[in-house]
Amino acid sequence: MHLILLGAPGAGKGTQGALLAERLGIPKLATGDILREAVRNGTELGREAKQFMDAGELVPDHVILGLVRELLASPAAEQGVIFDGFPRTIAQAEALETILGDLGRGVDAVVLIDVPDRTIVQRMSGRRTDPETGEVYHIVSNPPPPEIAPRVIQRVDDREDTVQRRLDVYRQSTAPLIGFYERAGLPIERVDGTQEIERVQAEISRRLAR
Ligand code: AP5
Repeated sequence: MHLILLGAPGAGKGTQGALLAERLGIPKLATGDILREAVRNGTELGREAKQFMDAGELVPDHVILGLVRELLASPAAEQGVIFDGFPRTIAQAEALETILGDLGRGVDAVVLIDVPDRTIVQRMSGRRTDPETGEVYHIVSNPPPPEIAPRVIQRVDDREDTVQRRLDVYRQSTAPLIGFYERAGLPIERVDGTQEIERVQAEISRRLAR
């Protein structure tokens, strides 16, 4: 299965993607996580991406597409992939069709996790990540266990002004993908992302089982 998780920054794509990956036994391809790791490791990719990420802008399509092409060709992706944070522009979605088509595959489902802006801002300000495992927490709704709490960190792009810019970029560049997939005949499974994490997961699973 090739499943795309769409939604604004902080809608819960990463959280739900991790649960789905475990349940479906296929990897999650999160371009944001890959880029953040490259930044941490100081690689060429990381150096190229950092300025865009810190400003809340999108990393150029050619950088992202090189990355995705390589990952989709790997044996780990043979049974399918959960896309978290990709595609993010119409150009990326068109390129994904070509890449998957060349591999004899295609997109099976698109899930849109719906969350209003005011909730997004609350979520971003409380989000914390474990730098050792990449696990994502929230100081109120999903707190880290006591042994992990001292080492969690806040993302640079979770500052309020950068979050606002990321929301604008989402509306401009990524939200048009909803129409793109509808026109392509793929139904968009809209899920209320304001529910508790487990409920959101249950709703996604129900929709996918139909
Ligand atoms: P990326 O890492 O993809 O960021 P994003 O899309 O902005 O999404 P987030 O990771 O912020 O949020 P999420 O929806 O995964 O929510 P999460 O589960 O963490 O991208 C970062 C940057 O990298 C981009 O700005 C861009 O520069 C670059 N980039 C990445 N991909 C790119 C691409 N394809 N093209 C170009 N550039 C790219 O949840 C958020 C918080 O809420 C957490 O604290 C969580 O615990 C909590 N939470 C989750 N669900 C719930 C719930 N149901 N109830 C209460 N709390 C919840």
